[in-house]
Parts: sequence; C-alpha cells; structure tokens
Amino acid sequence: MFSLKPLLLFLFLLLTVVEVTPHQLSTGVRPIERSVYETVESSSSSMILAEKRTRRKDPLDGFKYYNGGWNISERHYFSSASYTAAPLFGIAAVWFVAFGISLLSIGCCYFCCRRTPYGYSRTAYALSLAFLSLFTIAAIIGCVVLYTGQGKFHNSTTDTLDFVVRQAKDTVYNLNNVLDILAASKSLGVDQVSLPQSMKDNIDRVDQMISKAARSLDFETRKNEKDIKHGLNSVRLALIIVAAVMLLVALLGFLLSIFGFQGLVYILVVLGWILVTATFILCGIFLTLHNVMGDTCVAMDEWVQNPTAHTALDDILPCIDNATAQATLFESKDVTFQLVDTVNMIIKSVANIDPPPFPGFLNYNQSGPLVPTLCNPLNADKTDRKCEAGELDLSDAAQVWKAYVCEVSAKDICTTVGRLTPKMYDQMSGAANVSSGLSHYGPYLAGLMNCSFVRVTFTRIHEDHCPELTKYSRWVYIGLAMVSIAVMLSLVLWVLYARERRHRKYTKLAFAASERDWK
Ligand SMILES: *[C@@H]1O[C@H](CO)[C@@H](O)[C@H](O)[C@H]1NC(C)=O
Ligand SMILES: *[C@@H]1O[C@H](CO)[C@@H](O)[C@H](O)[C@H]1NC(C)=O
Ligand SMILES: *[C@@H]1O[C@H](CO)[C@@H](O)[C@H](O)[C@H]1NC(C)=O
Ligand SMILES: *[C@@H]1O[C@H](CO)[C@@H](O)[C@H](O)[C@H]1NC(C)=O
Ligand SMILES: *[C@@H]1O[C@H](CO)[C@@H](O)[C@H](O)[C@H]1NC(C)=O
Repeated sequence: MFSLKPLLLFLFLLLTVVEVTPHQLSTGVRPIERSVYETVESSSSSMILAEKRTRRKDPLDGFKYYNGGWNISERHYFSSASYTAAPLFGIAAVWFVAFGISLLSIGCCYFCCRRTPYGYSRTAYALSLAFLSLFTIAAIIGCVVLYTGQGKFHNSTTDTLDFVVRQAKDTVYNLNNVLDILAASKSLGVDQVSLPQSMKDNIDRVDQMISKAARSLDFETRKNEKDIKHGLNSVRLALIIVAAVMLLVALLGFLLSIFGFQGLVYILVVLGWILVTATFILCGIFLTLHNVMGDTCVAMDEWVQNPTAHTALDDILPCIDNATAQATLFESKDVTFQLVDTVNMIIKSVANIDPPPFPGFLNYNQSGPLVPTLCNPLNADKTDRKCEAGELDLSDAAQVWKAYVCEVSAKDICTTVGRLTPKMYDQMSGAANVSSGLSHYGPYLAGLMNCSFVRVTFTRIHEDHCPELTKYSRWVYIGLAMVSIAVMLSLVLWVLYARERRHRKYTKLAFAASERDWK
C-alpha cells in the first residue's frame, strides 16, 4: 500500500532526459513497478497526455502520425520524438559521406593530377576570405551560445534535481516521524486500559509498510541522486569540451589557412570533418531531449489538472485510489479518536473523582483541582470537531498536566496534593503525543498514498522549473547547431581558400599585385 516511489518518477524522467547513451537510459533506474495492491482502479476514461505536442511522424510506423501521447514505456513515442531531429541526423550523414568523398578526390588529385597553373580570380579570393572570416565569427558566437547555454542548463537541471531530492528527503523524514509515533503507540497502555489487540495488529502492519517504504525511498533517492549528478556533470563536461574544441578548430583553421600552412590545414580539415559529424549528431540528440522534456512538462501539467483520468503517468506512479487512501485515513482517525476518548474517560472517572472511602484502583488519595480533559479533534463519526472551552489541545497536554502530578509513596499513593501519579502522567501524555502525531500525519499519509503530494510537486516543477529547463536546452541545441554549421562551412572554405592561394602562387604575374592589395 505504501510504496512511495512517486518522486522517483521525476528522477527517472530527468535521467532519461539527461543521460544520453541508450545503455544508461535503460539501466539508469530500475523500472518502477507497481505492486499488486497498488492498482489504480481502471477507470473507464483513459486520457492521452500532451496529445497535440506529441503528434509527430513516426519512422517506425511507416511515417504515420503518432497518436499515443506522452508515454515513456512506448518506443513509438521516442522514435517519433527523435524524428524531429531527422534533418540534423540527415545532414550529419550527407556531410560525412559527401565531404569524405571530396576529401578523397582532393587527396588523389594532390598526388596524381598534373599541376597546371591556371588563372586566379581576385574576386573569388576576396570572397572566400570574407566568407571564411564570417563563418569563423559565426563559429565563435555559436561556441559562446553553447557555453552559456550549457552553464544555465546545468544550473536549472541541478536546481530541479535538488528540489526533487529535497522533497524525497522530507518525505523520508516525515515517515520516520510517523514510525516513531507508531512505535510509541504500541507500548502505550493508559493505566489498566490499553489498545485493543486488533488495533495493535493494524499498527504493526502499517509500521512494517511505512518502514519498508521509508527505507527504499531513502536508498533510491541517495543512489539516483548520485547517478544523476554524475550524469549531469558528464553532460556538462562533454558540452564544454565540444565548445572548446570547436572554438580551437575554427580559430586554428582560420589562422593556418590565412598563413598558408597547407599541410596542417588538411590535417585539421580531416579532424574537423569527423568533429562536425559528431556535433550534428549531438545536436540531434539534444533536440530530441528538448522535445521529450517539453512533452514531460506538458504531460505533468495535464496529469495534475485531471486527477481522475487514467493516463500513462498512472502506469508508473504507485498511487492508490482515493477510496483506499481515505479508508487508511479513517483508520488513523479511529486510533486518534479512541486514544483521546480513553484518556478522557480515565480523567473523568478516575482522576477527577473524590476518592472512594476504600483503598484500591480508584483510590490513590487523589485531591486538588480537577484535571482538564483533552480536546478530541474528532466526533464519534470521525468528522472534525471543534474544541470546547477548557479542553486541552493535544500538543499542550503534556505541559499542562505536569501541574497536576502528585508525589507518590512506594505503593503509588499520592502523598501530596495532585490527581495524577507520575506513572499515569507518563502514559497519558504519551497517548496525547501519539494522538497529536496521528492527527497531524494522517492526512499527510493519505496525501502520499493518493498522490496528491506528487501533484503538488509536479505543479511546482511545472511552474518553477520547466520554463528554464526548456529554454536552456533550446540554447544548447541552437548553440550546437550554430557551431556545427559554422565549422562545417569554414571547413569547405579552408579547402577553397587553400586552392585559391595555391593558384595565386602559380599565377606569378598577379602575385605581386595581390600581395600589395592584401598586406
Ligand atoms: C503506454 O505504452 C505501453 C507500452 O506500449 C502500453 O502498454 C500502455 O498502455 C500505454 N499507456 C497508455 C496510457 O497509453
Ligand atoms: C477523495 O475523497 C475525499 C473523501 O471521500 C473527498 O473529500 C475528496 O474530494 C476526494 N478527492 C478526489 C480528487 O476525488
Ligand atoms: C493524602 O493526600 C493529602 C494531601 O492532599 C496528604 O496530606 C495525606 O497525607 C495523604 N494521605 C496519605 C495516606 O498519603
Ligand atoms: C511528547 O512530544 C514532545 C515533543 O513533541 C516530547 O518532547 C515529549 O517527550 C513527548 N512525550 C512523551 C511522553 O512521549
Ligand atoms: C488525497 O487525499 C487528501 C487527504 O485526504 C485529499 O485532501 C485529496 O483531495 C485527495 N486527492 C486525491 C486526488 O484523491
């Protein structure tokens, strides 16, 4: 009943969004399974999340439009999301093949063709130099966009991760508090009256479920936090390296071709050819991730707004239906009600009476002012009840009752004024503590079980984190696209420019004139 992994969903989503390699994608987080008893009552209405956004052509399904909506268990969803990046992958392939062939033919020509001095066009030379400078500047701008974008993207993913981890840790903390309360309540017996056995069994059961849930949530949070932080840092490092290397290649290529180091230029061209292909592929992957991230944000929002519909998110989240959650809440209210009722009964019919003339259970020489009763937060039908004047708040009781404790003889008989023996005081304030804790944590537990807690978390993520996540992942792929296109065109121009230079050398007549022009 209490498998509290809902938060791990978002960790999982972050992971799928951030971890690039398919290997990590499939093993980064163990699939979150739903236990048998967690089944959401299959409601008749099944809702498609982010339907409009996810309507994309699906290459795995004959390029028909994909209509299943956001569903991370569906491979057609991922194939259609990555189809948006098809142009980038296409450019990468065409570039790799076409430029490879031209490099090969240039190489062949270099060694085999007879070098024929032929005319050199001053316009072509000037144009190629102008474009070369232009593309180098574009590459520099692209690197700056990429570098800034990855910094901001890293910050916003880290912020989101921290938020989710904080939520998970708060949950573990609260669950441990609940466990403490349950442990205290089991040992509780108010004087001769103690909790009925059936209730103790119930408490045992709940206790086991909560401690299992708290342990696994704690473990998974720690593990996933570490893994995801590691993944985020690797992505950051990779992007910084891409930005730095591309910047270096662009500048070096520019300088080398200006100063005419042809051999070095050709080595750089071969290097750049592979780098540009890789950057285009990386750009395509980031575009896909950007899309999935945007879809996820929309899906989370739609899920929050439609609490009763059955969606793909319910397949992953271990929410239980509202009715079961309310039944558990009712049970915890029942315990609260009975505890307070028992304590009040003892106050009224034992502590606050004039001791009967014969000694025994009811006579322990109690005397002095009457002990105030507890305010029961619930009516007998477990609806909320307003306190009456003079009733004690559950959380204050332990403090107030201290004034009514008497000193006792060895036989537990009051020797001073007072109506509570220290033993009675301990048990009664313990009972008040437990009731106070249960009435505080009961609704919290119900909220965890029916996922209203996750809904709140998703709302916060959607409002506070999604805008930045989508914005900066866009910066990253735009930066990558700029860098790869600019360096790609620069590569072509290095080759053209080198050719122009060579022709210029052979065109002896023009040589002197152009040298005057360009120096
Ligand atoms: C999500 O995809 C899985 C796998 O194809 C499928 O079994 C499931 O029904 C889908 N969920 C929804 C809500 O469409
Ligand atoms: C869940 O049940 C409670 C009590 O039955 C009700 O007050 C609440 O509105 C329900 N929530 C939803 C979303 O149905
Ligand atoms: C009973 O309590 C009174 C004080 O209220 C005290 O004076 C008296 O000694 C106590 N009697 C016994 C038998 O302890
Ligand atoms: C009751 O709770 C308070 C704090 O909430 C704690 O200091 C106190 O020791 C508890 N008393 C008992 C009897 O458990
Ligand atoms: C979940 O339970 C809480 C506490 O009882 C209630 O306030 C909330 O409306 C429930 N939400 C849903 C979606 O059932």
